[in-house]
Amino acid sequence: MSHYQKPPELYEGLRLHQNENTGGCSPRVLEALAKLRPDQIGFYPPYAAATDAVAKYLGVAPDRVTLTNGLDEGLMALAVAYLRPSVGGPVFESIVPEPAFEIFRFDTAVAGGRLVQVMPKPDFSFPLNDVLAAITANTRVVFLTNPNNPTGLSMPLDAIRTIAQRVPPGAIVFVDEAYAEFARESFIPELAHFPNVIVGRTFSKAFGLAGLRMGCLVGAPDRMDPIRQAIPVYSVSIAAVTAVQAALTDLDHLNDYLRQVDASKALLYAACDRLGLKYWKSRSNFVLVSAGDRLDALVKGAFARGIYIRDRSTEPGCAGCARVGTGLVSHTRQFIAVMEEVLCAAR
Ligand SMILES: Cc1ncc(COP(=O)(O)O)c(C=O)c1O
Repeated sequence: MSHYQKPPELYEGLRLHQNENTGGCSPRVLEALAKLRPDQIGFYPPYAAATDAVAKYLGVAPDRVTLTNGLDEGLMALAVAYLRPSVGGPVFESIVPEPAFEIFRFDTAVAGGRLVQVMPKPDFSFPLNDVLAAITANTRVVFLTNPNNPTGLSMPLDAIRTIAQRVPPGAIVFVDEAYAEFARESFIPELAHFPNVIVGRTFSKAFGLAGLRMGCLVGAPDRMDPIRQAIPVYSVSIAAVTAVQAALTDLDHLNDYLRQVDASKALLYAACDRLGLKYWKSRSNFVLVSAGDRLDALVKGAFARGIYIRDRSTEPGCAGCARVGTGLVSHTRQFIAVMEEVLCAAR
């Protein structure tokens, strides 16, 4: 397993390569941060009020929510809790339907688990039978993402139910809902009936808080316990707990962004149609575009003009593809103009 290649630190141009909210957070977040007192920063942070606010937003009891320093921390803690082998015990397995968020692979390796990749179908429809066939007595985690990154596609909720019924006792099904706000769909209302499912959420994307690092895990307290033990006691900062509470008072800011994402996707699809590019209709704030043998020209041409998009061509099933953030309409228009210029020149 090669090491995770963190994207280079590019902040001068238009960042359409990490699925962030390029419009940033609600102004209420900045106001709340500015009001923090020196003693609040001097003390270890309290979590109850932020946990209550997040639980209310997600429609669950607070004891079902664990705040994490970004969902990334939740993923690592989950991998450590469920995949770390005991001395002399079996090597536990994680199942990852590809293409997927690459962190699942790296966290599995760090925790000492064995990765079982399920390769995609040509149309990226969810490979339920292949996932079921990959389950063994040593399966401990099935990593699902709904909607998926990098395809932007949703998976049927029924597939989650079926997998949850088929994994061995002691295993969990993890549903990464980093982009759930955009799809307006969640498995959270069903968690009471599926105690072996844990859902992950983040405030990095729709709420524009990526720089402050705030995510959470949602699930049955007893399944969450081993994960909680793998999370450093005060990993979430006072800035993050303050920010998330302020962000949750401004759902107008969220809804405006969601509307812009929908409009942006429609504009990008139309541009791809004009240029003869294949794309997948996304339920997220990005679109996977297949530029085929013009991919390099597109990624490098956009870069030269100060727009960053993510080359995903080495991910399973994604040859010739780039992932493009579709957030603020003005930013999408900027990208489309560059895409038209670059690809017309590359013909
Ligand atoms: C599917 C998925 N899960 C988790 C994350 C991590 O989110 P966070 O910023 O909360 O660590 C991302 C970020 O790109 C993601 O795409």
